[in-house]
Amino acid sequence: MPTKTTLADAVSGSGDSSWQQSDSLLGKIKAVLDTPTTPPHFQAQLDSQATPFGASADQTVLLSALAAGHELLSSCRNGVCRTCICRLHSGRVTYRMDWPGLSAEEKAAGWFLPCVAYPASDLCISSID
Ligand code: FES
Repeated sequence: MPTKTTLADAVSGSGDSSWQQSDSLLGKIKAVLDTPTTPPHFQAQLDSQATPFGASADQTVLLSALAAGHELLSSCRNGVCRTCICRLHSGRVTYRMDWPGLSAEEKAAGWFLPCVAYPASDLCISSID
């Protein structure tokens, strides 16, 4: 029956003594590879809401806000319709698309699209409803 062979198993079982001297290094590499990674987690303050909500770097600001029970307007959820447009008062967001539906002037003025924006720091934002 085939068994799963890890890099450390393969190297430590090779019979090569130079590799066996590296067991502690291999153990460290294996520990790093086996350690689950979690994306950075930030806090976002929406309007005058008293309680900030959690915003994970691997989830859009819109989805984090909705998951926290905030009602942000949205429609297309792909950066085209601009229904979700909000103002970013402080903090940074990133986009995974080349250019979301905002002009350079709008971005410079602090407008952003939460449906396609990912937090890169704690945020202070306001909706326009
Ligand atoms: S919901 Fe359409 S641009 Fe955000």
